[in-house]
Amino acid sequence: MKRLRFILKYFSHLFDAKNTRGHGIHSPYLYRFTQNAIYEKNPFYVFPKIELLRENLKFDERKLFVKDYGTGTDRETRVLDIAKTSLKSPKWAQLLYRVVNFTKAQQVLELGTSLGLTAAYMAAVNSEINCVSMEGSDEIAGIARENFEKLEIENVDIIVGNIDEILEMHLAATDKLDVVFFDANHRSEAVMKYFNQCIEHIHPDSVFIFDDIYWSADMEKAWNEIRKDKRVTATIDLFEIGIVFFNKNFPKKTYKMKL
Ligand SMILES: C[S@@+](CC[C@H](N)C(=O)[O-])C[C@H]1O[C@@H](n2cnc3c(N)ncnc32)[C@H](O)[C@@H]1O
Repeated sequence: MKRLRFILKYFSHLFDAKNTRGHGIHSPYLYRFTQNAIYEKNPFYVFPKIELLRENLKFDERKLFVKDYGTGTDRETRVLDIAKTSLKSPKWAQLLYRVVNFTKAQQVLELGTSLGLTAAYMAAVNSEINCVSMEGSDEIAGIARENFEKLEIENVDIIVGNIDEILEMHLAATDKLDVVFFDANHRSEAVMKYFNQCIEHIHPDSVFIFDDIYWSADMEKAWNEIRKDKRVTATIDLFEIGIVFFNKNFPKKTYKMKL
C-alpha cells in the first residue's frame, strides 16, 4: 500500500513537473540556481574520484554493529549494504555539490553522515568550507573518516551522537548556516524539530535541502508544513528532495521540477 502510494505520487509529480526546467521562474537568482545548481551537466574534477570510492565500498564486506534510530535496537550490517542502499546516488550528491558551489556556502551542515560520500561532495567544493556532519553510529562514522582520508578531504568534522541531543549544542556555537542537508531521521516530528532548530541560524541566502520528502505520508506532512512556514519563501520540489529558500525577495511558491 505504501509502495503504491509512492508510485502514484511519483507519477503525479511527473505530470505536474512537465516543462518546468526553470521556465516560468521570474526571479533571476532562482532561474540561475535551476540552471547552474540543478540542471548543469558538466562533471567537476572531483566527481570520478568519489564515485570510484563508492564502487569500492560496494564490495566492502566489513561488518558493522549499528543503532537503528527508528526502532532503538542494534543490528548488524555490512559496509557494502550501506553503500548500496543508504546513500544519496551520484546524481543527487552531485546536485548537492553544485548547490554548495553556486551559493558559495562556507558553513555546511549535514544531518546523517553515513559513509560520508555526500559530505565529501559538499566539502570538496572548496577546502575553506567548514562542513559539519552528524552521525549516530560510531562504527559508521569510523568508515566515513577513513573515506575522507582516502579522498584527502580535511574539512569535514563528524560529530557522533544522537542528533536529538547534539544538534542544539552544536548550533549554540554556530553563527550562520549557509547550506543544511537533512538526511537522518525520516519522521516528521524529528524533521520539524531539526528544521525549527536550524532556522534560528539562517540568513537570507541560506538553503535547506530535505531528503525523501515523499518517502511516507508522514514525511510529506513535514514537507508541506515546511513549505507553508511563514519564514520560508520559494521551494523547489524535485520529488526525491525538496529545496528551501528564505530570501524575502523570492515569491512564496513551490516549483515542481524533475531532474
Ligand atoms: C540515509 S543515511 C545518510 C546518507 C548520507 N547523507 C549520504 O547521502 O551519503 C542516514 C544516516 O543517519 C543516521 N541517523 C539516523 N537517525 C539519527 C539520529 N537521530 N542521530 C544521529 N544519526 C542518525 C543513520 O545512522 C544513517 O547513517
